[in-house]
Amino acid sequence: MGVGAAAGAVAGGGFALSAHASGSAGSKPSGGAGSLVFDKDGFTELTTTITTDDGDKEVTYHFYKAVTYVARPVDEKYQSLNVSVPVEIDGQPVNASGAPILLANSVGGYMPSSVADATGVGGGGMGGGMPPGGGGASPSPGAPAAGGTGEVPSGGNGQLDDAGKRVSNAELALAAGFVVVEPGARGRTLTDAEGTYYGTAPAAIVDLKAAVRYVRFNKSRIPGDTDRIVTSGTSAGGALSALLGASGDSPLYAEYLEEIGAADASDAVFASGDWCPIADLEHADMAYEWNWGANELSGGGLVDRTVSKELATAFADYQASLKLRAKGFGSLTARNLDDYLLETYLRPSATAYLKGLPESDRSAYLAANPFITWSGGRATFTWDGFLQHVGARKKNTPAFDAFDLSSGENNLFGTGTTQARHFTLYSLRHEKGGSARLDPDLGEKLKLMNPMHHIVKERNPGRSRHWWIRVGTKDSDTSLTVVANLAASLEQLGDDVDAYYYWDQGHGANTDAAGFIAWIAEVTGHDRKKENGGSGR
Ligand code: DHB
Repeated sequence: MGVGAAAGAVAGGGFALSAHASGSAGSKPSGGAGSLVFDKDGFTELTTTITTDDGDKEVTYHFYKAVTYVARPVDEKYQSLNVSVPVEIDGQPVNASGAPILLANSVGGYMPSSVADATGVGGGGMGGGMPPGGGGASPSPGAPAAGGTGEVPSGGNGQLDDAGKRVSNAELALAAGFVVVEPGARGRTLTDAEGTYYGTAPAAIVDLKAAVRYVRFNKSRIPGDTDRIVTSGTSAGGALSALLGASGDSPLYAEYLEEIGAADASDAVFASGDWCPIADLEHADMAYEWNWGANELSGGGLVDRTVSKELATAFADYQASLKLRAKGFGSLTARNLDDYLLETYLRPSATAYLKGLPESDRSAYLAANPFITWSGGRATFTWDGFLQHVGARKKNTPAFDAFDLSSGENNLFGTGTTQARHFTLYSLRHEKGGSARLDPDLGEKLKLMNPMHHIVKERNPGRSRHWWIRVGTKDSDTSLTVVANLAASLEQLGDDVDAYYYWDQGHGANTDAAGFIAWIAEVTGHDRKKENGGSGR
């Protein structure tokens, strides 16, 4: 869609426009756009059955569809959100006015994500959820796939539980009585009629921040507690959710937000839920080789040894630069990070998994996996044993900044009519020679896309203080160090971090979704409100 056409559509009146609703508006957003006033009456009432760990729940809710969340949209198909507000659960009335708000993005592969065609919460009624990436745009011809592997990106609706069944945080949150906001966002493959890329970095995070601002600007018009916004996302969406949490109210995004007419309100979020975040992109090639360098590719064979070793060596400097410390380990370095991962995450995760198995299944698992020593109710194993157990690595080297510019991330850092660019000096100089320099705009764009910048470098005071971070131990879409470093850097700042590696799970796993919902109720204080007969059910 062309920029002009989209803007015209808004002037003509989007779903969000309503003369009578604007009468109840408090302040107006800067830029004088009354269109950012949420129409409380613009819903359809829907009823759906949501399967939870506590059995099926029949939920009646108000569904607000495709509400444009910026005053000067580039493309409303993506810059719009859906709101679901529970009004009755299993026949009991619900007052969600003080409930937490889950802002669940469905971004996958840094692709465009649209909720405009969804028929209910979680993309409901669309044959088991929206297709990966939000089901919006199909990539333009020749557009690079996520990770350069031709894989299908997962996205928020691509999460799987331990039985391999689709799981939706959005649906479970609604069934728990929370308000659910599902924002779309521009993505890397979008081009206008002139062939200009308008969804590459930092478009997706700018859009998601604008969505947060819109919700907060509409405090009391959108039911729910705007001081208790919790974001969630998976993979690229997990990285963006982490970035929302880390970069709250950062001035770095101001110009971009102004450009699209974002509401004049805070974009800080209370808590951040991040599944297998594909984050820290400019360091991800190094981290990947440190982690998976010795693992064969799925078709067999090792990746280029020189490239892999050079990247793994460079990782040591990066890891040291983070200046992370952990109890019992001192400084976390490339030399002790394997032990740190084993002790902090991998062995406890294997232990919990094995403890949860019936005796005969545990014996069978241990017989099939002799790399594990099971003693005194605890699993131990070596790093090499673990790597062999995981087996084939998913990506070639470099995993993210591909030499031939074929990765999704190369496209993410495209600009203007340039589809894909290098974003690390290593890959750039490998291709262009030793003195080549990255395009000057990339320094800032990398910061805009990297939660670690806001945590480690900025110690951003506007960040979330509550974090739920998850990844599967068999997920080689990125390095397992990404989650460990994200969690350790937040812990170092004193934040409340609940990080867990799901044993033997791959990319997109969410095997404790009910735990996330309970965690939201706990950290937001919603469970106490309910006990006191407050605004909860
Ligand atoms: C996703 C997966 C990747 O391997 C990647 O590099 C980027 C995004 C995803 O599933 O969203």
